[in-house]
Formats: sequence, structure tokens, C-alpha cells
Amino acid sequence: VCGIFGYYNHRVPRNRREILDCLLTGLRRLEYRGYDSAGICVDAQPAATHIKDAPTCNGHANGHANGGEASGPGTPPLVIKSSGKIAELEAQAQRELEDLQVDLGTVFACHAGVAHTRWATHGPPTATNAHPHVSGRDHQFVVVHNGIITNFRPLKNFLVSHGFSFVSDTDTEVIPKLCQYVYDSSPPDTPLSELVLAVMEQLEGAYALLVKSTHYPGELVACKRGSPLILGIRASPAAAVASPGVKGCYQAAKLRAVEGGFECFLASDASAVVEHTKKVIVLEDSDLVHLKDGAYFLFNAAERKAEENAAAGSPRLKAVAVQRALQTLEMEVSQIMKGGFDHYMQKEIHEQPESIYQTMRGRVRMEPQVQEGSLDPYKQQRIKLGGLAEHLETIRSGRRIVFVGCGTSYHASLASRQTVEELVNLPVACELASDLLDRRCPIFRDDTCVFVSQSGETADTLAALEYAKSRGALCVGVTNTVGSAIARSTHCGVHINAGCEIGVASTKAYTSQIAAITMMALALSEDSISKREPRDAVIEGLAHLPDKIRQALALDGEMRELAAKLKGEQSLLVFGRGYNYATALEAALKVKEVALMHSEGILAGEMKHGPLALVDESMPILVVATRDGVHKKMVSVIEQLLARGATKHLLVVCNEGDEEVAGLCASHGCSLIRVPQVVDCLAPVVNIVPLQLLAYHLTVLRGFNVDQPRNLAKSVTVL
Ligand code: F6R
Repeated sequence: VCGIFGYYNHRVPRNRREILDCLLTGLRRLEYRGYDSAGICVDAQPAATHIKDAPTCNGHANGHANGGEASGPGTPPLVIKSSGKIAELEAQAQRELEDLQVDLGTVFACHAGVAHTRWATHGPPTATNAHPHVSGRDHQFVVVHNGIITNFRPLKNFLVSHGFSFVSDTDTEVIPKLCQYVYDSSPPDTPLSELVLAVMEQLEGAYALLVKSTHYPGELVACKRGSPLILGIRASPAAAVASPGVKGCYQAAKLRAVEGGFECFLASDASAVVEHTKKVIVLEDSDLVHLKDGAYFLFNAAERKAEENAAAGSPRLKAVAVQRALQTLEMEVSQIMKGGFDHYMQKEIHEQPESIYQTMRGRVRMEPQVQEGSLDPYKQQRIKLGGLAEHLETIRSGRRIVFVGCGTSYHASLASRQTVEELVNLPVACELASDLLDRRCPIFRDDTCVFVSQSGETADTLAALEYAKSRGALCVGVTNTVGSAIARSTHCGVHINAGCEIGVASTKAYTSQIAAITMMALALSEDSISKREPRDAVIEGLAHLPDKIRQALALDGEMRELAAKLKGEQSLLVFGRGYNYATALEAALKVKEVALMHSEGILAGEMKHGPLALVDESMPILVVATRDGVHKKMVSVIEQLLARGATKHLLVVCNEGDEEVAGLCASHGCSLIRVPQVVDCLAPVVNIVPLQLLAYHLTVLRGFNVDQPRNLAKSVTVL
């Protein structure tokens, strides 16, 4: 998982400092996607100068960008890379630019810069393995890449046999080398987009790429397959934005884009674009964008028909001009800032009253409206999920519902499983996406598979989705990212509207996912008379949920004190059952992933089947024992733990006013975390809040990076 960012300006003069700032800021916004090394590439000289002075290297005429003035590649661009975070890249850039006496004030009327932040998959996080990767000493082709090229070994062998040498351990390095190979063997006037198309033809796996070249100064090509890529467009009113899709689109667009300034931002996600422009195009798989002459040209790499391919050596792909909707981002710039908080995770935990409200807004009619002479209020629709409306009957009459996700998203489906079972009366399975794929789990045409994913890009979940689709199941998405691969690839879905989540540890998306799945269960049971009462109780519970979360957030200070007591411990066991088995798993995941403390979420019903052996006077244990259908059983779990001497660090989550649990704990000096009571099926939403805070404070007190936990990255787009 990596983040890529590109900035293109045409007739908007920018000095080098502004361009570097823009690229580094873009990387900072994407840093949550990967933060073990980073790199950047900008031109050494403005295009006109270096074209004139350029030496001829390989005989290519190169008339593409400057009306045929130039006859060879320009001055090699500046490529700066470092291991570590963006701050280290910034320091490295400052050192290198000073050493080279590069003038930061140099103005570029037209420029294409690229940048990358890396989460290592092939090769350790060194500066050499950092992107951009280049071809040759002259850096003729420069590439940044998010994804994995699965066939990089045969490609590398091929390129080595043709005289190319490699310096990194990455899969990406084959891409600039392939660009070079294709360039060297193509006719001189081949456009950069065609070279990249020929390279795409060779690549297997997932990628979003940005390619720039000294042979094509002031041009940038981007393409994607599998990995996300967004094009942000900022044009001055006088600038005509090219919209290819007509014959001879290059010429047509060029004629229309003669006046006015034009800037484009290419990024792995919208958070890096929104501060520059809200006008975006979400690129689709096999799309290729060529930025050139103050216009963008959009193509899709389509498979050629067999008859077109008859000629030996004919390429498999051809570029077909396409149009994509120019969308307006709904995200606000404030969403990508920390506000008054120290960390994104902290901010996102505290945003939950609002994010959960947004998940429900316009979808839940809290009160049945009984008007004079009106119909039975129960006949009124109280849950409105536009994206599912047409499919409700198919789901109800299906064989079963299978939820699929990874990590926290999987936990959200576990937390909601019982709600769906109880309201919808269908068998419900929850599957970890990777395990479903490993087992090639039987999926049938009359199954409904629900893919739960905050990012909508997780490779395991996406692969499971393709598998379920191939089996003919109805595929539903529950995602937080409009236009994401999962949102696009599913037949229908629910957007959770939790707002941009930047902290690597998922918090507000979890609670919104539970709310969204609960609404889905309510919508599916709308026609059931026997479910009226429980449905009303759940809808009533949803109405009060933001307030209840607010009350749980008031435990912040207490959680900090508990974290101070726990901070030196090695391990934390978390017990829960019923609806709160998921709470136990999720709390343990938060503690391990950010506080870097071993933690295990355990189904309390399994305690005596093994985990009890770990319990002694010193083992820190957290028990979720709020009042619900399994409350009595949880009281008995607490008693058994106390009988084994687990008193030093026994923390119990219970409801306000639960004197039974309070009395039991008080007599043994255990700590209570008192949360407000809500309807059973929504308790996981409230109960997790103090435990997210506990994990947050533990992390701060243990001195670890809250928003960028070791070895992790948000949206895992590799299998
Ligand atoms: C944990 C966490 C991960 C993600 C998992 C799935 O805090 O964030 O476990 O939940 O990688 O990601 P999405 O939901 O984007 O599919």
C-alpha cells in the first residue's frame, strides 16, 4: 500500500519551492497509506531551456511537446528519496537542493512533478527501494507506483537479457525500464500515452502509475488497474478543459485549451486533492490520462477484438477515448485536518456522535407519523436505503447472507450478525476475506454476499468479491469511500457516510458500519409483522445513539487514568460474548495495533476451554459485561476470574446503575468502566468507545505513533 501524488501546472507559473511544497503536502495527506520511505521528482530546469540545450542521446526526433524544437531528452530531473517519513524526505530534499545549489525561485510555466510514500512489500524500506524509480542514469523515464506487479520477475529477466541493470529490490523498477525499452523500439513520434499503453500490456497485478519522461517535457501520464487513482482538475475560467471522446481528440482538445491556466492533481485518494480542487474524476480500471499542452486526454485501454489482432505482433490493447463524469467532492478540507486534536485517531474517536448521525441522516424515520385518517403507521417506510431498495426482496428470498471483510470491518459484521439473524430470519455467516478465498468457500447463486470495507480498496475483500460474483451471488457493498473499487464492483450497496478516516486504526468507520448493517437488517425486516416490536426498539435506540456515544466519550479522563495503570504491562486479555464478542476482538485489535501491546479478544464462552490457564494475579483482563441477554453469564465469568485471583488489573465494562456487577467488583478492588445502556444490538457501538480511548491513551503513554503504527498502513491493497 502506497500513496502516489502528481502535480501538473500549465500556464500557471509556479516556482520550484511552490511545486515542492505542493508535492510534499500531497504526500503528507497520503502518509497514512504508507510511511516507511518516500520520494519526489521535479524538473531540473524549465522545459523551454532544457529542450534547447538538450543533448541528443538516442536519435529520437521528439517533437511531441514543443512543436518539434527538441531533438533528444532534456536535463535529467531531480529525484530525491529517503527512508523514513515525509519529514525525513523534506529534510533530505533541503540538503540535496542546497548541495546542488538549486534555485528554489526558478519559475516553471509548465511542469509535471510526481511523489510517492511507500509501505514496503518488495524489499526493505531503504532510500534505494523508495520511489520514484527511473530508467538509466539520465532518468529518462520516472515512475511512481501503488500496487504490486506480480509478473515482475519474468519482466526483469527479459530486461536484464536486453542489457538493463537494476538497483532496487522492488517490483516497480521494471516499469521505467520497460518504458525505456518500448521507447527505444518505437517510432520517434510515438506519444507518451501510447508508450505507457504498451507497458500496461505487459504488466500483471495491480497498479496506479504516474510516468514522466525527459523525452516528453511538461507531460504526465497516469494509468490504473486495481489500485485507486483520482484526477483533480483546477482550471482558470478561461481554460477549456479537454474532453476527449470525439474523433481526433488530441487535436480537438488542443484547439480548445489554448487560453488560461490549468492545473491537475493526481492522487491515490481524495484527501490529497480536496484542498486544491473539489472537481475530480475517479478513474476506472484500465483508464489512462495524458496531461499535455494544458489539457487532459482520457482513454481506456480496451482489449482488441480477435480480428483486429490477427496481424502478428499486433498489440493486445488499444486506447479508446472515454468520458468520465466530473464529480464534486463532498468532503470538506476540515475533514483532513486534525482540528484541535493531537492525533487523527483521537479526532475520529471524538467525531463518532456526528459520524453515526451522518450514517443515519435521511435514512431513518425516527417517529412513525400517524396522521388523521392515515394508514397504519407500521405500513410507513421507516428505513430508506436507496442503494438497496430494488434488491431487498431478492435478499429476503435468498438462501443466506454472508458478510465478508478484514480486520475491523470483519468485526463490524460480527457485531451485527445477531441483529441480522434475529430480524431477518436468515442464516448469516461472517467470513474473513482471506480465509474465504483460501477455502474457496462454497458460494451459491441465491446467496447474498455483503462486502464490508472502510476504504473499499482492500485487496483481500476485493478478490473475495470477484470470487463471489463469479459464483453468481448478489454482491452488496458497505463502504466509506464513494467510487472505490468495492463500491463500484458490487451490484448494490450502502455508503456509511462516516467521513474521511485518516488514522490507520479504524474507529468511526467501525461504529458507522454497525449502524449501516443494522439499518440494512431493519430494511429487510420491514414487511414482517412479528418483528414490529423489536424493530421499533432498535429504531428508538438509533435515535438516541449519538447522545449515548457522547456520554461514553465523557469517560476520556478515566480511560487515561486506566491507561496509565496499564502502560507497563505486557498483555491484555479481553472477554466478551453475544453482541460483545466483537467488542472484545475489536478492543484487542486496537490495543495491539496502536499501543503495540499483546492483546487477545476471547469469546467468554470459551474461557474454560483454554484461556483460563493464562489467568493469574498479574494478568490484566478486561471484561465487557453490559446488560443484555448474556449478562448473567458474564457475571459468572467475572466470578470465575476473581476466583482465579485476577484482581490486580480486572477492568469491567458495565452499564450505569448495574449494582450487581458494581458490588462484585468493588469487593475486589476492580475498576469499572460505566457506559450508558442501549438496546442490546447497539451496545457494541457504545461499548467500544471507551476501549478505543483506552487504546489511544495507552499508545500515547507508551510513546508510540498513534496515527502511523509500526508496519501497518491504511487500505491494504495487496493480497
Ligand atoms: C484496524 C484496521 C484494519 C482494517 C482492515 C480492513 O484498525 O483498520 O483491520 O479494518 O485492513 O480495511 P477496510 O475496512 O478498508 O477494508
